[in-house]
Amino acid sequence: MSEEAIDNVAAGNPTAKAFTLTSALWFAGATTFGMIAAGYLIAPDFLANVEYIHFGRVRPMHVNAVLFGFVTPGLLAAAFYYFPKLLRTEIYSHKLGVFSAIFWNITVAAGLIGIAMGHTQGREYAELPWPVDIMVVISFSMVVFNILMTVRQRKESILFVSIWYTTAAVVLTSVTYCLGNVIWKPDTGALVGIPDAILLWFYGHNIFGLLLTPMALGIAYYALPIATRSPLYSHTLSLLGFWSLIIVYTHIGTHHLLQVPVPTWLKTISIVDSVAMVIPVMIVLINLWYTVKGKLGEIHADIGAKFIFTGTIFYFFVNIQGSMMALPHVQRITHFNNWVVGHAHIGVLGFAGVTALGGLYFILPRITGKPLYSRFLADVQYWLVLIGITGFAVVLTTVGLIQGNAWYNGETLYRTLPEIQPYYILRASLGTFIMIGAYLGLYNVVRSLYFNRGAST
Ligand code: HEM
Ligand code: HEM
Repeated sequence: MSEEAIDNVAAGNPTAKAFTLTSALWFAGATTFGMIAAGYLIAPDFLANVEYIHFGRVRPMHVNAVLFGFVTPGLLAAAFYYFPKLLRTEIYSHKLGVFSAIFWNITVAAGLIGIAMGHTQGREYAELPWPVDIMVVISFSMVVFNILMTVRQRKESILFVSIWYTTAAVVLTSVTYCLGNVIWKPDTGALVGIPDAILLWFYGHNIFGLLLTPMALGIAYYALPIATRSPLYSHTLSLLGFWSLIIVYTHIGTHHLLQVPVPTWLKTISIVDSVAMVIPVMIVLINLWYTVKGKLGEIHADIGAKFIFTGTIFYFFVNIQGSMMALPHVQRITHFNNWVVGHAHIGVLGFAGVTALGGLYFILPRITGKPLYSRFLADVQYWLVLIGITGFAVVLTTVGLIQGNAWYNGETLYRTLPEIQPYYILRASLGTFIMIGAYLGLYNVVRSLYFNRGAST
């Protein structure tokens, strides 16, 4: 490949485009499901309890749509853009890439229809019915194959840390997904008793820690130095951050089971390593924040970088909060209530989702060769999502404290319900901000990809 061709790799990248569209579509779908779920929490007879979308079904539809429809494909879109750039070679097969994106969409749709029809394996983050589990594994295998083959045919011998993070994420997840969903038992998709809970949460936390987190960090490491035109502060720190994440994050899943009779040694490991998570997180944040130090103007100028930098701030908060929540004394108050739901939104939306959105906006002008259809709309979306998620964090944390303290003091559950009703109304109102932001984003992405005659704003 000529030097010029190497510089142009990733322009017009159909795989990145396909995953970009996938992510924007499911962001809109997922927030709609979230709003319906929030409606049921305010008024249990909301929408006359239509069987296909009553709370018990629409909740897992929302969660699976955000995880597998919005965030993961968004992070993959950026990866399929920066892999060719960093490795100085084309993606191994764009035909396979586009096919994997189409198959990915069919998989997510099949899973959601399955759940809506009442087919679920009833284990959190592993609800998808067995045939859909197999489709997920096929989708991941196609992505892994494409990524590994691209790495194999690279012209650049040095592997930048973004490549490490994303390759590890997709390879590890294709294994942990099979384990966590117990795919060798098609009838139940589960083991029996406590070992099942341990295995489920090993998988569950790895979805956040070994899929979303490393892929989001891969984007931050790629985009922030480019947007600020600054060299990375430290390559040594970047590798230390990578390996400490792999070592520490892999076995903290049991912090979800501190109030369950699992072996004490397992709980102890999970607590110690949850606190130790401060190490990989702070290494990454020191490295990224020192890289962009004094360059906030440049970050502000690039809407992609603005989202991504905001994601790093939420990463800081989710880590400080998460390490605290793993302490048994704290968890006596925070477990089994909306505090955890708040943490989940700070992590999956505030950190990983906001970073995925940043990735989309960062690559869109670069893969289309034109400016974004509307920078103004993207800015509006930024503020809607930022206000929504910050509001979620405050409201859900407050509700969690009310619920947790009431329970701790032996209060009967139904007496707390009138007290938390106004907060649920607030949460749904804030949710509309995020949902409107998602639809604006979808419009902007579709216009930027397909109907963009040039700059509008
Ligand atoms: C970085 C350090 C982190 C630590 C130490 C941590 C710790 C925890 C703990 C202890 C819980 C269980 C709380 C309980 O059930 O009482 C939890 C739940 C959760 N965490 Fe984190 N967390 C961290 C980061 C993240 C990140 C980055 C994400 C998302 C990308 C995330 C997503 C979630 C979700 C979705 C749940 C809810 C699981 C459920 O449905 O019960 N966490 N976390
Ligand atoms: C319109 C905006 C949204 C609304 C109204 C909303 C609402 C909800 C509701 C009602 C639940 C169920 C909580 C419960 O069982 O008590 C939930 C769970 C969840 N949502 Fe959202 N959500 C929204 C956006 C998002 C986004 C964009 C993401 C991620 C990118 C996300 C990630 C999650 C996760 C991971 C859970 C599981 C929480 C847990 O089990 O701890 N949500 N959401």
